[in-house]
Amino acid sequence: MAFVWTKDLETGNALIDNEHRQLVKAADELVEACGQGKGRQEVGKAVEFLSNYTKTHFAHEEELQLKYKYPDYAAHKSWHQSFLKEFEDVAAKLKAEGATIALVADVNAKVSKLITHIKTLDLKLAQYIQSSQSK
Ligand SMILES: [Fe+2]
Ligand SMILES: [Fe+2]
Repeated sequence: MAFVWTKDLETGNALIDNEHRQLVKAADELVEACGQGKGRQEVGKAVEFLSNYTKTHFAHEEELQLKYKYPDYAAHKSWHQSFLKEFEDVAAKLKAEGATIALVADVNAKVSKLITHIKTLDLKLAQYIQSSQSK
């Protein structure tokens, strides 16, 4: 399964959208590296990049939420935290075992979950920021 940027992923917030674009690209590269039977080292590098980028991106979104006094901050942050934990588990296994079919399915499921988050909770956040800015 390839992950590509589509218009329905846009939230309208330039900073968030730019980072989401990078995230989708990094996720696609990881899935690609897994699918092409690339070595453990290469898969490991792609996993590492995606997990670091995800952490940085989540931190940026949380900073924005604090800045704009976002009312759903706690719930959004806790979603981020539990996602990071789940992703770290898959990442650790992937680094240890290499890209097995079962793990590749897990990676796909995690990325899909993140994409759903972008289309729902992140969109809500971006809309909130936009309405605060126009006040
Ligand atoms: Fe996001
Ligand atoms: Fe988010």
